[in-house]
Amino acid sequence: MSTTTLLTPGRIGGLQTPNRLMMAPMTRSRALAGGVPSELAIEYYAQRASAGLIITEGVAPVAVGLGYARTPTAETPEQMAAWKKIATAVHDRGGRIFMQFMHVGRIGHSANRYTSEPLVAPSVVRAAGQMWTDAHGLQDLDTPRALDTSEIPGVIDGFAQATRNALEAGFDGVELHSASGYLPMQFLSTGTNRRTDAYGGSINNRIRFVVEALEAMIAAAGSSGRVGMKISPAMPFNDCTDDNPVETYTTLVKAISPLGLGYLHVLRTTIPDTFELLRPLFKGPFAAGGGFDRDKGNALLASGGADYIVFGKLFTSNPDLPARFSNGAEVTPWNAETFYTPGEKGYTDYAAV
Ligand SMILES: Cc1cc2nc3c(=O)[nH]c(=O)nc-3n(C[C@H](O)[C@H](O)[C@H](O)COP(=O)(O)O)c2cc1C
Repeated sequence: MSTTTLLTPGRIGGLQTPNRLMMAPMTRSRALAGGVPSELAIEYYAQRASAGLIITEGVAPVAVGLGYARTPTAETPEQMAAWKKIATAVHDRGGRIFMQFMHVGRIGHSANRYTSEPLVAPSVVRAAGQMWTDAHGLQDLDTPRALDTSEIPGVIDGFAQATRNALEAGFDGVELHSASGYLPMQFLSTGTNRRTDAYGGSINNRIRFVVEALEAMIAAAGSSGRVGMKISPAMPFNDCTDDNPVETYTTLVKAISPLGLGYLHVLRTTIPDTFELLRPLFKGPFAAGGGFDRDKGNALLASGGADYIVFGKLFTSNPDLPARFSNGAEVTPWNAETFYTPGEKGYTDYAAV
């Protein structure tokens, strides 16, 4: 048992957090054309500055890694000038913010992209499923081309450069999105990785991309504590399948534990007891996410099952979630209809109590 509650201060790398709530990374599809975050995002993130740590929406590290409508990138001076305003506004309100790097890999549609380059993936395996485009409504996902072995250092360098960009813009750190069937998880999973080079086949080969990306991000950040990672073992989302997810994720977590990451964020999915399986294998702060409320979060912290609890949907409609948990105020239910719609409705118009 532990005396830690959601309101106990904590530490991620060199960062003190006033509580144990993380705001989950959430795509909100309000960015401007060309991958530039909107002015509205400044207010949205600043309103949520009381979170122990904010993780931004998924941000493409490079243009070729962007797949969804109205989503942002962290590459050009114009994009980074907008991100800088967001980091500054969160810090001005006393908060802490990491940027999540989401390279979609094979999950995207050309109508949502501002580059004419095709999608890239470990192998030429089109994902079943459709995606919203503003121009043509729902569309089948594009077919990706396979990355040549010689191109992989360049893809990894994209994550390193985006790390430098984010830290220069004032972010406290960065998160590698290795969950939800995007590029890093496409390398991890047997269903999407059919490669025969050093990045495919054996489990040690399939984890290589993620390990090398993390190492490059840590080198770019100059501090392992400024880098976190999210995983979602066995999540079938985005048509991602794996023959042996327990082996994949226990091997991965053992391999990355010595790197000294700021935290490991695990989204509970279909493997029974995911947190119990992985927490003992990771030596740093362990953040558990997926379907938590105050009581479930406090119970897991009290049992010693996690160090941080990640809240997603509740943070969309409760900008002051830590205060509501502290004073026992009602939480406002989220509205899924405005998760991805443009404008302030359902985004910046939820009041603090
Ligand atoms: C609107 C919305 C957008 C999301 N976008 C992302 C994303 O960009 N990156 C990511 O890692 N997870 C994303 N997620 C998943 C959340 O980070 C989180 O893992 C999930 O919502 C489960 O937590 P919850 O039950 O507290 O909402 C998104 C979830 C929602 C509801």
